[in-house]
Amino acid sequence: MEGQPSATGTFAIVGVGVFGLSTAFHLRRSHPDAKVFLIDRTRGDRSNRGAASSDFNKIIRADYGDPLYMRLALDAQEIWRADPVFSPHYHECGMLFAEEIGMGRASFDNYRDLGVDTKSEILSKEEALARFPVFQDANWSGAKENYFNPQSGWGEADEAMASFFKATCDTGATFIEATAEKLILDPEGSCSGVAISEHGIKRNVYADRTILCVGAYTEQFLANTAPERSDLQVNGRLVAAAAIQCKAKYPPEQEEMLKKAPVHFLGMWHTHGESIPPFKNRLKFNCEVSFTNMSAHGGLGREISVPPSAESQSAWSQDVPEGLKQEVANVVKNTYGSHVPGIEIESYRMCWDAVSPDQDFIIDCHPTCQNLVIASAGSFHGWKFLPTIGEYVVKRLFGTLEEPLARKWAWNREYTGSACEMYEPTRDVKAIGPFKGWSKTGGVGDDADG
Ligand SMILES: Cc1cc2nc3c(=O)[nH]c(=O)nc-3n(C[C@H](O)[C@H](O)[C@H](O)COP(=O)(O)OP(=O)(O)OC[C@H]3O[C@@H](n4cnc5c(N)ncnc54)[C@H](O)[C@@H]3O)c2cc1C
Ligand SMILES: *[C@@H]1O[C@H](CO)[C@@H](O)[C@H](O)[C@H]1NC(C)=O
Ligand SMILES: *[C@@H]1O[C@H](CO)[C@@H](O)[C@H](O)[C@H]1NC(C)=O
Repeated sequence: MEGQPSATGTFAIVGVGVFGLSTAFHLRRSHPDAKVFLIDRTRGDRSNRGAASSDFNKIIRADYGDPLYMRLALDAQEIWRADPVFSPHYHECGMLFAEEIGMGRASFDNYRDLGVDTKSEILSKEEALARFPVFQDANWSGAKENYFNPQSGWGEADEAMASFFKATCDTGATFIEATAEKLILDPEGSCSGVAISEHGIKRNVYADRTILCVGAYTEQFLANTAPERSDLQVNGRLVAAAAIQCKAKYPPEQEEMLKKAPVHFLGMWHTHGESIPPFKNRLKFNCEVSFTNMSAHGGLGREISVPPSAESQSAWSQDVPEGLKQEVANVVKNTYGSHVPGIEIESYRMCWDAVSPDQDFIIDCHPTCQNLVIASAGSFHGWKFLPTIGEYVVKRLFGTLEEPLARKWAWNREYTGSACEMYEPTRDVKAIGPFKGWSKTGGVGDDADG
């Protein structure tokens, strides 16, 4: 991209998830004369909409194997704790890891190497159980090391998004409720804005810079814009993938015990899941084994992974394949076992996100489409950065992003290792059959259909 945008220019941000919302806020705050349009088909303060960032709750932790994300997450957590926009929606109940992949140990070592004053500990199973007897009937088999950080926790996702949406609109950003149809490309092939359909009325929003923050829709959106331009396409830099979640109710007499549970991650071959303790009398669970939805794209003449067309396939509902329901029920069982009787799954959700092969974000100016900026690939771990990620997008926009970050988040980069390896999808939703257990060597069990 040639030169920097003018601080009094017009910016069209497409997508009001973590990336788009945070970018709009930080852009208006650092450049009060910039005109900022924030475009999404659903309002940022609506709950249960089909965005990865809209959810019941999300985990907030700085426990990362990559010291760079650890530093970023520590900075974000300070805002979660202190800023009145976020702090009412942040709960620091601690997080326990029981796993065989060394994530806890890597985090523990990173805090030490970074000289961070942490309260995190490595615990034996006996020590973990003495502290959290609620997990005495969990499936501990295969856990190599347990790790506990009392300074991790979770956020009320829809509530925090709504609060930040209000704060962002208060800065003077203009929200437009509309579907973005495609980018507007001028005769030179540069981006001059976005064509939208606003309650059925089509119009163009012209902008000096267009910032595409459409998450799982990124690949499809670029393909729809100009399928004949292969230089514009995602081409493997990210893929739309989902993981299954559930919300469960429990008998009121269990509340006392469940309230003392931390966020719990089970990273053993038989589980791959997470749980978040009670919020509004519900428990939440994720199964981390992700999947794509490959589908022919007419314009491109090949298959790409696309998120659902029906909102019920990306919001809380019952509209979920049976096999996935069983996979997440397996997480529930292996987390609480029969020690907490009466837990009953109430609803399910496929959460669709853009995942990059190294799980690093993409925050970059498109190298061959002038005035287009991409901010995406939350890769199943981006939500916690809601308060801060936009600062980095704004820096990239104005050419001041620190070199290591610019390189890490570049559109064109070399792939060097993962932030979180297990998030890489290796199967398609249409191939998911009845759940027969995971195999020890990865993937579904030997006798599974999937
Ligand atoms: C199962 C699961 C669990 C996760 N758990 C955690 C967690 O515990 N902690 C954590 O930190 N992260 C977590 N994440 C990751 C986090 O949810 C994502 O990284 C983050 O929400 C991505 O935000 P986004 O802005 O890229 O996308 P989204 O939130 O999906 O936002 C994209 C927006 O673009 C809009 N849009 C798309 N196309 C169009 C169009 N054509 N016109 C108009 N609007 C459009 C959509 O409506 C949507 O609002 C999880 C992800 C998944 C899938
Ligand atoms: C843990 O799960 C595995 C796989 O399903 C199973 O074989 C084992 O018996 C379980 N262990 C416990 C203690 O539940
Ligand atoms: C998969 O893609 C098709 C489009 O080919 C879409 O209609 C459907 O909703 C998607 N399914 C899921 C579960 O995402």
